[in-house]
Amino acid sequence: QKDGYDTFMLKEIYEQPHVIQETLRGRIIEDKIVLDELQDIDFKDYNKVYFVACGTAYHATLCGSQVLERTTKLPVNTMVASEFRYNDPLIDKHTLAIFVSQSGETADTLAALRLAKEKGATTIAIANVLGSTISRDADYVLYTCAGPEIAVASTKAYTTQLVLLILLAYYVAQVLEKNIDHELIDQLNTIPQYVENILNDHAIFENYAKMLENLHDAYFIGRSLDYASVLEGALKLKEVSYVHADAYVAGELKHGPIALIEEGSVVIAVATQPHIAAKTMSNIQETIARGANVILLTTHGEEVKNVENTYYLPDVSPTLQSILVAIPLQFIAYYTACIKGCDVDKPRNLAKSVTVE
Ligand code: M6R
Repeated sequence: QKDGYDTFMLKEIYEQPHVIQETLRGRIIEDKIVLDELQDIDFKDYNKVYFVACGTAYHATLCGSQVLERTTKLPVNTMVASEFRYNDPLIDKHTLAIFVSQSGETADTLAALRLAKEKGATTIAIANVLGSTISRDADYVLYTCAGPEIAVASTKAYTTQLVLLILLAYYVAQVLEKNIDHELIDQLNTIPQYVENILNDHAIFENYAKMLENLHDAYFIGRSLDYASVLEGALKLKEVSYVHADAYVAGELKHGPIALIEEGSVVIAVATQPHIAAKTMSNIQETIARGANVILLTTHGEEVKNVENTYYLPDVSPTLQSILVAIPLQFIAYYTACIKGCDVDKPRNLAKSVTVE
């Protein structure tokens, strides 16, 4: 069961190197991505892609959709399922619609899938539970290999969804004969080891969590792919520790949220995307000038000033940083909840699978 861990959430955090490896298994051969499940799809038939999901799975699609758009140049649209199903989305037979769900039973995601099919889209489900409703309803299905996820807060399902969405983006690009970053494909195989190394740094993140113990609010900032990461970091923190957390595009701070920053506020900043990191760094300085204590997750080579709590992520392709940075964010949420004595595996008011609207 918990295999000696105090909670399922902690056990599942530590399973990530293994389940990421399992999700990659057989899907990269030499420098080619192999997704045999999708071999009947003629990707040239599509001129638009929708990504639809809820909660953590939605955050995974925010990353995956950006990667797919960059690699394939197909326009993408990413929507929360409960919005998609009531917003009369523009869909026809040239639309590819991708639905992501750990459980495969989320009511809104299933309803969104049915709607997309009715409107003529080709549907792909990314699911974790074998034989789940979504895997039966979709035209095609890809499985993450995270194994059973018991804790209500999703951890290993999220990182395996990221891995599979990145594989999918590169697979479609490969089929469409686009230029592909082969180094990134190589690096995917090294991700389990890098995740293992970050897990070994857990004491650092436990210390960061102590900064949040007595706070009511925390602020997460990031740009580009890091915005998806901070949305997930904030969701994790609020659901397990009940610390109110919001995530902002760092560039939006001065359009309102910075009014909230005062002496002692904690800002958790993610800056792993080299093309935009300097801009986030300058937003960080703006929060420090107003008294914030910053926890920064970044990569070597970025110029960091005045930030005492800086954690450097391993040197891999920026696209893959979304997978790595998830680990410190999970730990920060987990340890904050533990310090506050929360029931980590069963947060109040939440169910593992949301089967009603
Ligand atoms: O099973 P699903 O992936 O469809 O679930 C979607 C959300 O309900 C789920 O990710 C939820 O947000 C988790 N509690 C997040 O930790």
